[in-house]
Amino acid sequence: MTSAHEIGIVGFGNQGKPWALNLRESGWQVRTFFRASSRTSEHAKESGFRPEPLDDLGSVPLLAILIPDDAMPSFCAEHASRIREGQGLVFAHGFTLHYQTALWPSFADRLLVAPKGIGAAVRERFVAGSGVPAVLAVENDFSGNGWAIARRVAAGIGADRVGIYEGTVRDEVEADLFSEQALLCGGLPGLVAETYDVLVKGGVSPEIAYLECVHELKFIADLFQKNGIAETLRAASPTAQFGGVSASRRLISPDFRSKLERMLAEIRKGTFARALAAEARDGFSQTRGAIENLRGSSLESVGRSVRRRIEERNR
Ligand SMILES: NC(=O)c1ccc[n+]([C@@H]2O[C@H](COP(=O)([O-])OP(=O)(O)OC[C@H]3O[C@@H](n4cnc5c(N)ncnc54)[C@H](OP(=O)(O)O)[C@@H]3O)[C@@H](O)[C@H]2O)c1
Repeated sequence: MTSAHEIGIVGFGNQGKPWALNLRESGWQVRTFFRASSRTSEHAKESGFRPEPLDDLGSVPLLAILIPDDAMPSFCAEHASRIREGQGLVFAHGFTLHYQTALWPSFADRLLVAPKGIGAAVRERFVAGSGVPAVLAVENDFSGNGWAIARRVAAGIGADRVGIYEGTVRDEVEADLFSEQALLCGGLPGLVAETYDVLVKGGVSPEIAYLECVHELKFIADLFQKNGIAETLRAASPTAQFGGVSASRRLISPDFRSKLERMLAEIRKGTFARALAAEARDGFSQTRGAIENLRGSSLESVGRSVRRRIEERNR
């Protein structure tokens, strides 16, 4: 590396913008790179960066490639020739590395600094003096300094304020995909929609069902994060403890468990990655359709009205 504290950021979206701002405020010299058709280069200008063309990618010692995972193959095919020997490439998720969706050059470090949280949290926690934990891995240590560089980047985005975890690309990818499917973006939203629907179809007021099934989630999730699950349950009422423990035994059946295991096996075998690539080729039409259906549901319209009411009262 020519300069320990110079980094180029490609992508100024969910992760790119928080990374650029956090690293700059941590004393890094941050440069931002955009394709000619970019819309987000304007956001970078508004944040005081000077957008540079992708032609100049080779002019920085370290590049954080923070574009959507499905855009990595075409980005790499078009721009890999600009990557210089000894340059470091940093990714925020190991998908492209693990499934080898792109042929990243063997003469570049390939490093993973994966924040375990959404981009908005990476920025908000940093501004509040804290951070979001990150998983680090070195997939190709061409320079021999891969771990040190990854740790420095993790510190720059604020992750070391709360904990960095050294691991492997495989662990990060499997855990990330599985938790977002089984829990965060799949299991949990599905359970919320079902519980709300059963209550409303059972004659309960939609507003009250929404408060119970969505609004209260954050309060309990905050307690899980702060005190752990057992302590949160221990502090709950005996009614909630008894009802919760017995319901959990009934819901999480052996059949449910085997579905989870199948999901993990599909991630491991690459079946999920192939399905994702096919859906991406189709413009994510099925996924977008499902989200649009959800947007039109009673759960969402009641949610909008409850949130509006909360905002009005908070003014
Ligand atoms: N979403 C999260 O909070 C989150 C959490 C953890 C890890 N990650 C990981 O972080 C990485 C980035 O995800 P993200 O959600 O931040 O992506 P994103 O917000 O969807 O990225 C959008 C940015 O990527 C740029 N971009 C897209 N295609 C490009 C291309 N072909 N060439 C150059 N720039 C291109 C866009 O620029 P234009 O203006 O040119 O369109 C835009 O600035 C991924 O590896 C993801 O898995 C994301």
